[in-house]
Amino acid sequence: MQIHSSIPELRSALQQQRRRIAFVPTMGNLHAGHIALMQEARAHGDTVVASVFVNRLQFGPNDDFDRYPRTFEADCEKLLNAGVDLLFAPGENELYPEPQEYHVEPPASQNQLDGTFRPGHFRGVATVVLKLFNIVQPQVALFGKKDYQQLMVLRNMTRQLALPIEIVGSETVRAADGLALSSRNGYLSPGERAEAPRLHRLLQRIATAVATGDADFAGLETDAAAELDRNGWRTDYVALRRQADLQPPRGADDRPLVVLAASRLGNARLIDNIEIAACGGR
Ligand code: PAF
Repeated sequence: MQIHSSIPELRSALQQQRRRIAFVPTMGNLHAGHIALMQEARAHGDTVVASVFVNRLQFGPNDDFDRYPRTFEADCEKLLNAGVDLLFAPGENELYPEPQEYHVEPPASQNQLDGTFRPGHFRGVATVVLKLFNIVQPQVALFGKKDYQQLMVLRNMTRQLALPIEIVGSETVRAADGLALSSRNGYLSPGERAEAPRLHRLLQRIATAVATGDADFAGLETDAAAELDRNGWRTDYVALRRQADLQPPRGADDRPLVVLAASRLGNARLIDNIEIAACGGR
């Protein structure tokens, strides 16, 4: 595996490949979910490129930028074992040699769900991903569905800016007890880790209820948030939304839906979601 930290070096290495590039951008601290993305990337391209860069632009002033886990050596070993061909791991001065004054501004419709609780987050994500796309120039890029809203923002950006890149969303990888794998799970104490699968269980409960005909969406959302909070969580949202645009459904038949949640447990802010089948079993 080649490792490049400079943009010109990476560009010249990629020019020598001249094949279909599948790209997986990450912020490092890699877990089995990232590795599944790398393996899936292999099915989409001849050359698999990963990036590791903790992007300051997408963290708010009270977010965890400083304590975000940085585990570069271990990440390199995992990427090597996963068969990644090239790793782009720029320092902050390489990607942002001057203050980044041009940004990709996602539309106001994204100031909801995580956009409400993390103002500016998607602007930071879209900006760095566009920049990485310009550097790597992949034909296909892969992102996990765990970050469902991020995936939608990046799909829309790619389509509206006519970028010649196919965006692939990959299924969430979970621990045996259902907890979605996330770098932020490392912030959980052992007791919190035992509690954490409740989030997925509640989303499953809502998905099953909706799929079998329960149309009291507001009631389902409120009950789940209350149950989390009774068990020591601080919930930002539990929301049933349309898969296509993440807007609230206009009625019980406005499907397919996805149920999404974000809640804080100790020092970790966990997010998760479940897509609900279109016909709803009704
Ligand atoms: O999902 C992530 O890890 C990040 O948001 C991304 C897409 C690598 C951009 O920094």
